[in-house]
Amino acid sequence: MEHQKVLVLDFGGQYNQLIARRVRDLNVYCDLMPFGMTAEEIRKYDPIGIIFTGGPNSVYGENAPHISAEILRLGIPVLGICYGCQLIAYTLGGKVEHAETSEYGKRSFTFGKQSAISAGIPQTSICWMSHTDRVTQPPAGFETYASTESCPVAVFGNETEKIYGVQFHPEVVHSEYGNKLLENFLYRVCGAKGDWTTANFVAEQVAALKAKLGGKKVLCAMSGGVDSAVAAALVHRAAGDGLTCVFVDHGLLRKYEADEVMEVFRNQLGMNLIKADAGERFLGKLAGVSEPEQKRKIIGAEFIKVFESEAKKIGAVDFLVQGTIYPDVIESGKGNSAVIKSHHNVGGLPSVVDFKEIVEPLRDLFKDEVRRVGTELGLPDSVVLRQPFPGPGLAIRIMGEVTAEKLETLRDADYILRDEIAKAGLNREIWQYFAVITNSKTVGVQGDFRTYENVIALRAVTSVDAMTADWARIPYEILEKISVRIINEVKGANRIVYDVTSKPPATIEWE
Ligand code: XMP
Repeated sequence: MEHQKVLVLDFGGQYNQLIARRVRDLNVYCDLMPFGMTAEEIRKYDPIGIIFTGGPNSVYGENAPHISAEILRLGIPVLGICYGCQLIAYTLGGKVEHAETSEYGKRSFTFGKQSAISAGIPQTSICWMSHTDRVTQPPAGFETYASTESCPVAVFGNETEKIYGVQFHPEVVHSEYGNKLLENFLYRVCGAKGDWTTANFVAEQVAALKAKLGGKKVLCAMSGGVDSAVAAALVHRAAGDGLTCVFVDHGLLRKYEADEVMEVFRNQLGMNLIKADAGERFLGKLAGVSEPEQKRKIIGAEFIKVFESEAKKIGAVDFLVQGTIYPDVIESGKGNSAVIKSHHNVGGLPSVVDFKEIVEPLRDLFKDEVRRVGTELGLPDSVVLRQPFPGPGLAIRIMGEVTAEKLETLRDADYILRDEIAKAGLNREIWQYFAVITNSKTVGVQGDFRTYENVIALRAVTSVDAMTADWARIPYEILEKISVRIINEVKGANRIVYDVTSKPPATIEWE
């Protein structure tokens, strides 16, 4: 692709993906790469600028990641953030010192001297700090542009070399003019043209896919999720009827969801979409099973079997489409963290399909970019703004055995919750909201009669990446409406509770 690129070198900080997303939002393409790239590799990659991210180390620490000074002599503009800023100072002979106390949170900072990266930023503004070490003296030839009360060198740089360091985090929203600073770096220092736009991406991808897929047979598994939906719509633009999509309906989707997939993709977009109605089959396999991991494994395995038998009917294909997105690419192979839950996705499909090559048209995109591409392709908000939904579906929101009866109760309760959240206009700010059947029954009284029915739990969380989450502070009046409606309208429920646990220690889903 013919767009400009920025290289974001990852030193392990918690906001690293956020930096890359901010750069992309400023219409400049960037890649997040491990810090170990050599100067030669960087030269080959040919970026218009490099950003060093923050990281948990001290430059003097035992295993601290360092860089060769050669990288700073390539003539490519560099912006170092937090650890990245200290690293520039350390590498070029400035002074980095360990402060007695860490500085954390919002700070006021003042520019003493203007530079390219401070254009349009007021002399004094608020920034977000999170550090212990700090630069106390910039390298020779560098100037200090701004300081805070406890950080003498909050911004420094060398205009001729086009190298800058900022101690604070311009990528987080608490830094008032952080985005402006990033924009200045990209547009005033690196000479960005702003050629990374959704429209350009779609045009480029469709042209590239047309050249690659023209006249060939393409197969795609649709789950109803955002990524596979957008991948399918994009490939459809290029491959037309050459694309066949298989939608495995495991009967564990939310109310009306399967119908909507058919309506949008088959009726509106005119896609060649096959629906495998496998609800009964999944329920049969899940009969008598209550252990969460066992449920997940059964569903994952069954999904692949159903897909396999559909794929066999279609026969050999040239390409298999996968909805892999950028965070999957940068996270794959990272870390050895314990398996908390075995996630079900379409990763096992390649082994059961007779195909020649995989196409992953979204592998360069962050989730928000995938959504924008979906909108650009004409997909409705109900598809592109869909909240995350687990592969095993409602089965892991029904504690204990999954039965048709419990599924119906859960679907109806969940639908009311979603309806009221949307009516209250909270659907954009809450990350996920859903109902759970708790596997306990309690006694109630309705119209003078004793009832003995399911306790329904409501779960709603705010989050940025699902790694951590907080329970959403839904106003009481809205909780009340939801509770009253579920009790009145849904068969099989007589008590509603609200889950007020964050993640960690809980997880978002109940199983
Ligand atoms: P937990 O429950 O682990 O969930 O806090 C984190 C996020 O992942 C979603 N989730 C899944 N997504 N397949 C998926 O594609 C799965 O098996 C699965 N299990 C959980 C969950 O909804 C939340 O967004």
